[in-house]
Amino acid sequence: TAALPYANGPVHIGHLAGVYIPADIHARVQRLRGEEVLFICGSDEHGVPITLRARKEGVTSQDVVDRYHKIIGDSFRDLGISFDIYSRTSNQTHKDLSQAFFKNLYDKGVFREIRSEQYFDEQAGQFLADRYIVGTCPSCKNEGAYGDQCEKCGSTLSPTELLNPKSALSGTVPVMRETINWYLPLDEIQESFLNEWIGGKSGWKSNVLGQCKSWLNEGLRPRAMTRDLEWGVPVPLEGADGKVLYVWFEAPIGYISATKELRPDDWEQWWTGDSRLIHFIGKDNIVFHCIIFPAMLHLRGDGYVLPEQVPANEFLNIEGEKVSTSRNWAVWVHEYVKDFPDQEDVLRYVLCSNAPETKDNDFTWKDFQARNNNELVAIFGNFINRVVVLTNKFYEGIVPNPSSFSDVDNATLTELKAYPAVISSSVERYRFREALGELMNVARLGNKYLADEEPWKVIKDNPERVQTQMYVALQIAAALSSLCEPFLPFTAAKLSRILKIETKIDWKTVSQTSELIPSGHQIGEAELLFAKIEDEEIQKQRDKLEATKVANKEEIASAQAETEPQKETI
Ligand code: MF3
Ligand code: ZN
Repeated sequence: TAALPYANGPVHIGHLAGVYIPADIHARVQRLRGEEVLFICGSDEHGVPITLRARKEGVTSQDVVDRYHKIIGDSFRDLGISFDIYSRTSNQTHKDLSQAFFKNLYDKGVFREIRSEQYFDEQAGQFLADRYIVGTCPSCKNEGAYGDQCEKCGSTLSPTELLNPKSALSGTVPVMRETINWYLPLDEIQESFLNEWIGGKSGWKSNVLGQCKSWLNEGLRPRAMTRDLEWGVPVPLEGADGKVLYVWFEAPIGYISATKELRPDDWEQWWTGDSRLIHFIGKDNIVFHCIIFPAMLHLRGDGYVLPEQVPANEFLNIEGEKVSTSRNWAVWVHEYVKDFPDQEDVLRYVLCSNAPETKDNDFTWKDFQARNNNELVAIFGNFINRVVVLTNKFYEGIVPNPSSFSDVDNATLTELKAYPAVISSSVERYRFREALGELMNVARLGNKYLADEEPWKVIKDNPERVQTQMYVALQIAAALSSLCEPFLPFTAAKLSRILKIETKIDWKTVSQTSELIPSGHQIGEAELLFAKIEDEEIQKQRDKLEATKVANKEEIASAQAETEPQKETI
């Protein structure tokens, strides 16, 4: 599964680098290895940020999610993210399944019914859950903290912990009003299950385990699984009018309901038995996927599988600054595909090379350009181009008959056969940058082979030797077309068109035979795989980012004109 993005805005490159590209590479590698895979995603269409956005724009919540569901889905499709389904949580299957899940736990007596005082906005006439309430963070004193979280220091909060609470709807100071909600007793579940279960996860990434352990060390508290809100999945109980399921209860169930939508007849098999459940997420989602959702699945019983791995990534910054949707400090995927037509793989390549696997990382346009020009063009593209051009020049595009293999030839072909295992092993350990580096080593292997063998010189005196050389080089090119597919699917398709390899080569074939493209096979004409990116294009993108800064300064200046002057720096 890949985290269901909130349908309250488009996706940016940070989302891709942290979640969707690694998830896609993983899914594609598993498929090429012959595993049965379902790669599940969809839009997360409930939650307060969506209703707040709708309010701000004066449209309905449904309008907001319809708009962004389309934009987000298109972005993923354009970037070649190979979901088996991209669903959405506002559909009926999801509503039914998440209500049934809640009811199941309710009937088992899992929830604690707790009567409490919650903030209520008298002007707006509604309870203020989560992001509907803003105030000062009790830990770091950030004045823009939300009712569920302080984004500055990362503390998880409940609305009543905020100092100087204010309604995000009307700006008024809320009053307390009594309400009933249903809580998941995470304190009990910690003792009976989570401590031991997470304790056994020694193979999880250290950033993930670190966060889990800090939650457990602090001691989990019961958490409300329902909210007094209108937008969401209604709580399926008598007398629960005006209440919906907590978005973090219901959204992860979206993985299951999307599976059901895709595979109505055998969806349950995928969620039970010996399935391997792997959740690709960003670091802000760790607690929900490593603690709350596993607790729900565990309590549900019925043989539901628990996540085997939750390879959460850190965040990607842009030009040294944190991505900010509200300040428009982002590179939006739907804009990238317009600005760089047919260069989807370049973005995939750069984001995977820079994936924030162990720490936050930085994206810069300069690095984007350098990686394209110095790596994709100069190494990968150059090798393929030489092979295809020479094959056409020497043999009218027909793969020659090898005569006898030298030691170097044999060593090269042997090395080639090891790559599927090498790359898979990195991917299995969630080291996508390392895996991509190994892929480039295949292209380097090819480049080095040609540079050492110099078929363009040898052709004059020993044309028979060149037949073998070109045969070997063509095997490397053919292997590349399959090995690059998980990372660069558009390039893989182009390459198999150029080499006229009709059916996809699976990774077993690469490692078993040295004949990936046989003698006598006719290949096509050379075609540019990667184009050089010029300085002007890069400058345009940097200017676009800078422009958002100017716009923000103006906005801030006009906002400050109405507020007190800033205090002196201390
Ligand atoms: N919408 C959430 C986010 O963007 C992710 C939800 S993942 C799910 O952070 F498991 F809840 F679906
Ligand atoms: Zn804080």
